[in-house]
Amino acid sequence: MYRLVLNLPQEFRQFVLFDLPSHEAMVDGIRIVWFQRDVPEPVCKPLAHLLSRQERERADSMVFAADRHSFIWVHACKRALLAEYVGMKPSQLEFMHNAQGKPFLVGSDLQFSLSHAGSYAVIALVRGRRLGVDIEPIRRLEDAMGLARRFFSEKEAERLRDLEGTPDFGLAFFECWTRKEAFIKALGGGLSIPLNGFEVSFHPSPNPDLRGISVATDGWILHDLKLVDGHAAALVAEVFS
Ligand SMILES: CC(C)(COP(=O)(O)OP(=O)(O)OC[C@H]1O[C@@H](n2cnc3c(N)ncnc32)[C@H](O)[C@@H]1OP(=O)(O)O)[C@@H](O)C(=O)NCCC(=O)NCCS
Repeated sequence: MYRLVLNLPQEFRQFVLFDLPSHEAMVDGIRIVWFQRDVPEPVCKPLAHLLSRQERERADSMVFAADRHSFIWVHACKRALLAEYVGMKPSQLEFMHNAQGKPFLVGSDLQFSLSHAGSYAVIALVRGRRLGVDIEPIRRLEDAMGLARRFFSEKEAERLRDLEGTPDFGLAFFECWTRKEAFIKALGGGLSIPLNGFEVSFHPSPNPDLRGISVATDGWILHDLKLVDGHAAALVAEVFS
Protein backbone atom coordinates (compact mmCIF):
# COMPACT_ATOMS: atom_id res chain seq x y z
CA MET A 1 0.00 0.00 0.00
CA TYR A 2 1.29 3.47 -0.85
CA ARG A 3 1.59 5.46 2.35
CA LEU A 4 0.46 8.98 1.87
CA VAL A 5 2.69 10.72 4.37
CA LEU A 6 5.83 9.12 5.68
CA ASN A 7 7.83 11.94 7.13
CA LEU A 8 5.41 13.96 9.18
CA PRO A 9 6.39 15.37 12.54
CA GLN A 10 4.80 13.34 15.34
CA GLU A 11 2.30 16.06 16.30
CA PHE A 12 0.71 15.84 12.86
CA ARG A 13 0.36 12.08 12.75
CA GLN A 14 -3.28 12.40 13.79
CA PHE A 15 -3.97 13.84 10.36
CA VAL A 16 -2.52 10.97 8.39
CA LEU A 17 -5.34 9.35 6.49
CA PHE A 18 -4.19 5.81 6.98
CA ASP A 19 -3.91 6.29 10.72
CA LEU A 20 -7.66 6.85 10.87
CA PRO A 21 -8.99 3.38 10.06
CA SER A 22 -12.14 3.95 12.06
CA HIS A 23 -13.16 6.56 9.50
CA GLU A 24 -13.98 3.95 6.90
CA ALA A 25 -17.12 1.99 6.15
CA MET A 26 -18.52 -0.28 3.46
CA VAL A 27 -22.03 0.64 2.39
CA ASP A 28 -23.73 -1.53 -0.24
CA GLY A 29 -20.30 -2.71 -1.45
CA ILE A 30 -19.05 0.87 -1.72
CA ARG A 31 -16.03 2.06 0.24
CA ILE A 32 -16.62 5.26 2.17
CA VAL A 33 -13.67 7.13 3.66
CA TRP A 34 -14.05 10.33 5.63
CA PHE A 35 -11.61 12.52 7.44
CA GLN A 36 -10.99 15.99 8.81
CA ARG A 37 -10.10 18.44 6.12
CA ASP A 38 -8.57 21.22 8.19
CA VAL A 39 -4.88 20.51 8.34
CA PRO A 40 -1.96 22.77 9.16
CA GLU A 41 0.49 23.89 6.48
CA PRO A 42 3.31 21.52 7.50
CA VAL A 43 0.96 18.61 6.74
CA CYS A 44 -0.25 19.69 3.36
CA LYS A 45 2.84 21.43 1.99
CA PRO A 46 4.86 18.26 1.36
CA LEU A 47 1.83 16.76 -0.39
CA ALA A 48 1.42 19.45 -3.04
CA HIS A 49 3.76 17.59 -5.40
CA LEU A 50 1.21 14.75 -5.60
CA LEU A 51 -1.25 17.11 -7.31
CA SER A 52 -1.39 17.96 -11.01
CA ARG A 53 -0.40 21.42 -12.23
CA GLN A 54 -4.08 22.32 -12.68
CA GLU A 55 -4.88 21.19 -9.14
CA ARG A 56 -1.99 23.22 -7.75
CA GLU A 57 -3.17 26.23 -9.73
CA ARG A 58 -6.65 25.83 -8.27
CA ALA A 59 -5.17 25.70 -4.80
CA ASP A 60 -3.00 28.75 -5.47
CA SER A 61 -6.02 30.74 -6.65
CA MET A 62 -7.72 30.36 -3.26
CA VAL A 63 -7.69 33.52 -1.17
CA PHE A 64 -7.56 31.95 2.28
CA ALA A 65 -4.58 29.86 3.33
CA ALA A 66 -6.83 27.42 5.20
CA ASP A 67 -8.76 26.71 1.97
CA ARG A 68 -5.53 26.16 0.04
CA HIS A 69 -4.22 23.75 2.66
CA SER A 70 -7.48 21.88 2.83
CA PHE A 71 -7.71 21.60 -0.97
CA ILE A 72 -4.19 20.17 -1.22
CA TRP A 73 -4.82 17.74 1.62
CA VAL A 74 -8.17 16.51 0.32
CA HIS A 75 -6.93 16.03 -3.23
CA ALA A 76 -3.75 14.32 -2.07
CA CYS A 77 -5.88 11.94 0.02
CA LYS A 78 -8.18 11.34 -2.94
CA ARG A 79 -5.21 10.55 -5.16
CA ALA A 80 -3.66 8.24 -2.55
CA LEU A 81 -6.90 6.31 -2.15
CA LEU A 82 -7.51 5.89 -5.88
CA ALA A 83 -3.88 5.07 -6.56
CA GLU A 84 -4.08 2.01 -4.31
CA TYR A 85 -6.80 0.55 -6.54
CA VAL A 86 -5.00 1.03 -9.82
CA GLY A 87 -1.49 0.25 -8.60
CA MET A 88 -0.05 3.62 -9.59
CA LYS A 89 1.56 6.45 -7.67
CA PRO A 90 -0.85 9.19 -6.61
CA SER A 91 0.96 11.76 -8.75
CA GLN A 92 0.61 9.59 -11.86
CA LEU A 93 -3.19 9.58 -11.90
CA GLU A 94 -4.95 11.52 -14.64
CA PHE A 95 -8.48 12.85 -14.44
CA MET A 96 -10.89 14.00 -17.07
CA HIS A 97 -14.10 15.93 -16.45
CA ASN A 98 -17.47 15.89 -18.16
CA ALA A 99 -19.03 19.15 -19.38
CA GLN A 100 -20.51 19.80 -15.92
CA GLY A 101 -17.23 19.19 -14.13
CA LYS A 102 -17.71 15.64 -12.82
CA PRO A 103 -14.25 14.08 -12.54
CA PHE A 104 -13.38 10.57 -13.80
CA LEU A 105 -10.18 8.61 -13.46
CA VAL A 106 -8.63 8.04 -16.90
CA GLY A 107 -8.12 4.40 -17.93
CA SER A 108 -10.03 2.73 -15.10
CA ASP A 109 -13.55 1.59 -14.26
CA LEU A 110 -13.03 2.86 -10.71
CA GLN A 111 -15.75 5.38 -9.90
CA PHE A 112 -15.46 7.89 -7.10
CA SER A 113 -17.21 10.87 -5.64
CA LEU A 114 -15.82 13.53 -3.34
CA SER A 115 -17.57 15.98 -1.06
CA HIS A 116 -16.01 18.51 1.28
CA ALA A 117 -17.92 20.78 3.60
CA GLY A 118 -17.47 22.14 7.09
CA SER A 119 -14.56 20.35 8.74
CA TYR A 120 -14.92 17.06 6.86
CA ALA A 121 -14.30 15.47 3.51
CA VAL A 122 -15.80 12.19 2.33
CA ILE A 123 -14.79 10.03 -0.61
CA ALA A 124 -16.83 7.12 -1.97
CA LEU A 125 -15.21 4.54 -4.24
CA VAL A 126 -16.45 1.54 -6.19
CA ARG A 127 -15.68 -0.25 -9.44
CA GLY A 128 -18.12 -0.07 -12.30
CA ARG A 129 -21.05 1.73 -10.65
CA ARG A 130 -21.76 5.44 -10.96
CA LEU A 131 -22.16 7.13 -7.60
CA GLY A 132 -22.42 10.45 -5.81
CA VAL A 133 -21.77 11.42 -2.21
CA ASP A 134 -22.54 14.60 -0.31
CA ILE A 135 -21.90 15.87 3.21
CA GLU A 136 -23.03 19.07 4.93
CA PRO A 137 -22.72 20.32 8.49
CA ILE A 138 -26.18 20.91 9.98
CA ARG A 139 -26.31 24.61 10.67
CA ARG A 140 -28.64 27.59 10.87
CA LEU A 141 -29.24 29.24 7.50
CA GLU A 142 -30.46 32.77 6.98
CA ASP A 143 -33.21 31.78 4.54
CA ALA A 144 -33.57 28.00 4.61
CA MET A 145 -37.22 28.13 3.54
CA GLY A 146 -36.32 30.37 0.58
CA LEU A 147 -33.63 27.90 -0.50
CA ALA A 148 -36.07 25.02 -0.10
CA ARG A 149 -38.65 26.77 -2.29
CA ARG A 150 -35.97 27.33 -4.90
CA PHE A 151 -34.22 23.95 -4.86
CA PHE A 152 -36.61 21.37 -3.40
CA SER A 153 -39.73 19.92 -5.01
CA GLU A 154 -43.05 21.46 -3.98
CA LYS A 155 -43.81 18.52 -1.73
CA GLU A 156 -40.37 18.57 -0.10
CA ALA A 157 -40.67 22.31 0.57
CA GLU A 158 -44.12 21.76 2.06
CA ARG A 159 -42.83 19.01 4.35
CA LEU A 160 -40.06 21.31 5.50
CA ARG A 161 -42.47 24.17 6.16
CA ASP A 162 -44.41 21.82 8.46
CA LEU A 163 -41.25 21.48 10.54
CA GLU A 164 -40.56 25.22 10.88
CA GLY A 165 -39.86 26.13 14.50
CA THR A 166 -39.23 22.50 15.53
CA PRO A 167 -35.82 21.09 16.55
CA ASP A 168 -35.92 18.77 13.51
CA PHE A 169 -35.93 21.59 10.98
CA GLY A 170 -32.13 21.80 10.41
CA LEU A 171 -31.69 18.05 10.17
CA ALA A 172 -34.62 17.71 7.75
CA PHE A 173 -33.29 20.53 5.55
CA PHE A 174 -29.77 19.14 5.28
CA GLU A 175 -30.91 15.54 4.93
CA CYS A 176 -33.03 16.56 1.96
CA TRP A 177 -30.25 18.75 0.54
CA THR A 178 -27.53 16.07 0.74
CA ARG A 179 -29.84 13.37 -0.66
CA LYS A 180 -30.70 15.52 -3.66
CA GLU A 181 -27.13 16.65 -4.13
CA ALA A 182 -25.81 13.06 -3.95
CA PHE A 183 -28.16 12.08 -6.79
CA ILE A 184 -27.17 15.12 -8.88
CA LYS A 185 -23.54 14.21 -8.33
CA ALA A 186 -24.13 10.56 -9.22
CA LEU A 187 -25.77 11.61 -12.50
CA GLY A 188 -22.96 14.10 -13.05
CA GLY A 189 -25.22 16.64 -14.75
CA GLY A 190 -24.83 19.44 -12.21
CA LEU A 191 -27.39 22.20 -12.45
CA SER A 192 -28.63 20.93 -15.83
CA ILE A 193 -30.71 18.42 -13.81
CA PRO A 194 -33.97 19.95 -12.55
CA LEU A 195 -33.91 19.66 -8.78
CA ASN A 196 -37.70 19.50 -8.65
CA GLY A 197 -37.64 16.66 -11.21
CA PHE A 198 -37.24 14.08 -8.47
CA GLU A 199 -38.05 13.69 -4.80
CA VAL A 200 -36.24 12.15 -1.88
CA SER A 201 -37.82 10.63 1.18
CA PHE A 202 -38.24 13.30 3.80
CA HIS A 203 -37.51 13.38 7.51
CA PRO A 204 -38.62 11.49 9.59
CA SER A 205 -39.15 8.74 6.99
CA PRO A 206 -37.06 5.75 8.16
CA ASN A 207 -36.30 4.50 4.63
CA PRO A 208 -34.20 6.64 2.34
CA ASP A 209 -35.78 6.59 -1.11
CA LEU A 210 -35.70 8.37 -4.48
CA ARG A 211 -38.80 9.04 -6.56
CA GLY A 212 -38.67 10.30 -10.13
CA ILE A 213 -40.98 13.06 -11.38
CA SER A 214 -39.38 14.21 -14.65
CA VAL A 215 -35.99 12.65 -13.90
CA ALA A 216 -35.81 8.81 -13.98
CA THR A 217 -34.64 7.32 -10.71
CA ASP A 218 -34.98 3.62 -11.60
CA GLY A 219 -31.75 1.74 -11.13
CA TRP A 220 -30.49 4.10 -8.43
CA ILE A 221 -30.34 3.54 -4.71
CA LEU A 222 -30.09 6.13 -1.94
CA HIS A 223 -28.34 5.52 1.37
CA ASP A 224 -28.12 7.75 4.40
CA LEU A 225 -24.61 7.99 5.80
CA LYS A 226 -24.14 8.52 9.52
CA LEU A 227 -20.55 9.70 9.49
CA VAL A 228 -20.03 12.56 11.90
CA ASP A 229 -22.22 14.07 14.61
CA GLY A 230 -23.83 17.29 13.49
CA HIS A 231 -23.57 16.44 9.78
CA ALA A 232 -25.98 15.08 7.21
CA ALA A 233 -24.55 12.89 4.48
CA ALA A 234 -25.96 10.76 1.67
CA LEU A 235 -24.79 8.35 -1.00
CA VAL A 236 -26.54 7.52 -4.27
CA ALA A 237 -25.26 4.66 -6.41
CA GLU A 238 -26.29 2.59 -9.37
CA VAL A 239 -27.95 -0.62 -8.29
CA PHE A 240 -25.53 -3.52 -8.56
CA SER A 241 -26.56 -5.58 -11.60
C1 LIG B 1 -20.51 21.25 -8.07
C2 LIG B 1 -21.51 20.36 -7.40
C3 LIG B 1 -20.97 18.97 -7.51
C4 LIG B 1 -21.74 20.73 -5.96
O1 LIG B 1 -20.69 20.70 -5.17
P1 LIG B 1 -20.80 21.12 -3.66
O2 LIG B 1 -21.92 20.44 -2.95
O3 LIG B 1 -20.77 22.59 -3.60
O4 LIG B 1 -19.44 20.58 -3.16
P2 LIG B 1 -18.97 19.11 -2.81
O5 LIG B 1 -17.79 19.29 -1.97
O6 LIG B 1 -20.06 18.25 -2.29
O7 LIG B 1 -18.55 18.48 -4.21
C5 LIG B 1 -17.49 19.01 -4.93
C6 LIG B 1 -16.80 17.90 -5.67
O8 LIG B 1 -17.71 17.22 -6.53
C7 LIG B 1 -17.04 16.84 -7.74
N1 LIG B 1 -17.79 17.44 -8.84
C8 LIG B 1 -17.65 18.62 -9.47
N2 LIG B 1 -18.61 18.75 -10.43
C9 LIG B 1 -19.35 17.63 -10.38
C10 LIG B 1 -20.48 17.17 -11.12
N3 LIG B 1 -21.03 17.86 -12.11
N4 LIG B 1 -21.01 15.97 -10.79
C11 LIG B 1 -20.48 15.22 -9.81
N5 LIG B 1 -19.41 15.60 -9.07
C12 LIG B 1 -18.85 16.79 -9.37
C13 LIG B 1 -15.60 17.33 -7.63
O9 LIG B 1 -14.84 16.25 -7.15
C14 LIG B 1 -15.70 18.41 -6.59
O10 LIG B 1 -14.55 18.54 -5.82
P3 LIG B 1 -13.38 19.54 -6.27
O11 LIG B 1 -14.05 20.79 -6.71
O12 LIG B 1 -12.57 19.73 -5.04
O13 LIG B 1 -12.65 18.86 -7.35
C15 LIG B 1 -22.84 20.43 -8.14
O14 LIG B 1 -23.65 19.37 -7.75
C16 LIG B 1 -23.61 21.70 -8.01
O15 LIG B 1 -23.27 22.72 -8.55
N6 LIG B 1 -24.70 21.64 -7.31
C17 LIG B 1 -25.61 22.72 -7.23
C18 LIG B 1 -25.80 23.17 -5.88
C19 LIG B 1 -27.25 23.16 -5.62
O16 LIG B 1 -27.98 23.97 -6.12
N7 LIG B 1 -27.67 22.20 -4.82
C20 LIG B 1 -29.03 22.06 -4.47
C21 LIG B 1 -29.21 20.77 -3.73
S1 LIG B 1 -30.87 20.54 -3.29
